[in-house]
Amino acid sequence: MTSPSVAPLNSVPRPRTASQRLAGALANSFLLSHGRNLMRRNEANYFLPLSKWEKLSAGIYLILRDYSTGLFPPTFADQQAAYEAEMNFYSSMTGLDRAEVIKGHIVKPFWDARHFGTYSRSFTKLVQVFESVGLKPGNRLLELGCGSGWVAEFLAIMGYRVVATSIGPDEIEIGHLRVKALKARGIDDDKRLIFRRSPMESVDEVLKDQEPFDCVFVSEALHHAYDWKKTIHTAYRCLKPGGWFILADEPNLIHTFVSYRIGRMTNTHEIGLSRKEMNAEMLKAGFRTTKVFSPRFDNRMSHLWMGGQR
Ligand SMILES: C[S@@+](CC[C@H](N)C(=O)[O-])C[C@H]1O[C@@H](n2cnc3c(N)ncnc32)[C@H](O)[C@@H]1O
Repeated sequence: MTSPSVAPLNSVPRPRTASQRLAGALANSFLLSHGRNLMRRNEANYFLPLSKWEKLSAGIYLILRDYSTGLFPPTFADQQAAYEAEMNFYSSMTGLDRAEVIKGHIVKPFWDARHFGTYSRSFTKLVQVFESVGLKPGNRLLELGCGSGWVAEFLAIMGYRVVATSIGPDEIEIGHLRVKALKARGIDDDKRLIFRRSPMESVDEVLKDQEPFDCVFVSEALHHAYDWKKTIHTAYRCLKPGGWFILADEPNLIHTFVSYRIGRMTNTHEIGLSRKEMNAEMLKAGFRTTKVFSPRFDNRMSHLWMGGQR
């Protein structure tokens, strides 16, 4: 494994500008002692139970501390290191071994009422968006950053033909179990659900054997990509003329702050995305129409649902 793309949590380069020095002084002051303490314990235990306020308190401390040393906002200069961090995600959670993490993801989204409620609402909205642009069962979909593959599996059960991709080898293994489960139910069309391992930025190179798709979608994953702009251009190339690229449930700009603690601890790429910038990039890639499904106003907080038609 190469070194992580951001410096380890305990690295302390020298403060530079006046605002960085001020941030450093605040981070080390008694005002943030609670957050400092929580962060220390959280570094030792990824699953340390934290209330919303405790997360906020630890997050503020961490952002100020890292801003003071030039580590915040995060930049990920090394693509290979960023890819490796994502690939090793299932083994990188302090306090949990890989087998336990895999076990949890096999049953996603059936974790508890709160998570199931959130994920099932998001899935329903995704299908509504598909239907609103004329997609229907039988169409060929390509998913980027599919995680453990639950969305792809549900869509395949509905009758869509899905090729699901992710950079994570453990996720593709879980995906293969989902394919077996589908076959056990009698859904044994070989093209109904396929999992392939690929970075989303270059998925067209890995899927050279596939016909262009009716839809390429990415749900809660573009903000993890090493290069989201390149991914939009790649998605365009994977589509048939008239096909849709759907960006679903991607976090807005505030996520850069909210998710910083988690991204830092797992060494993964967690940033918020800008609706304006994504729209501009879709047009640059060649999409002839772009559409915002929600939110109605660009508020920089609500999750983004957007699309582009080739
Ligand atoms: C938060 S998970 C979302 C997973 C899934 N879409 C879901 O809703 O359950 C982010 C996913 O993006 C994947 N990922 C991160 N960077 C990637 C990249 N450059 N190319 C492909 N997949 C990537 C991760 O492996 C993970 O599967």
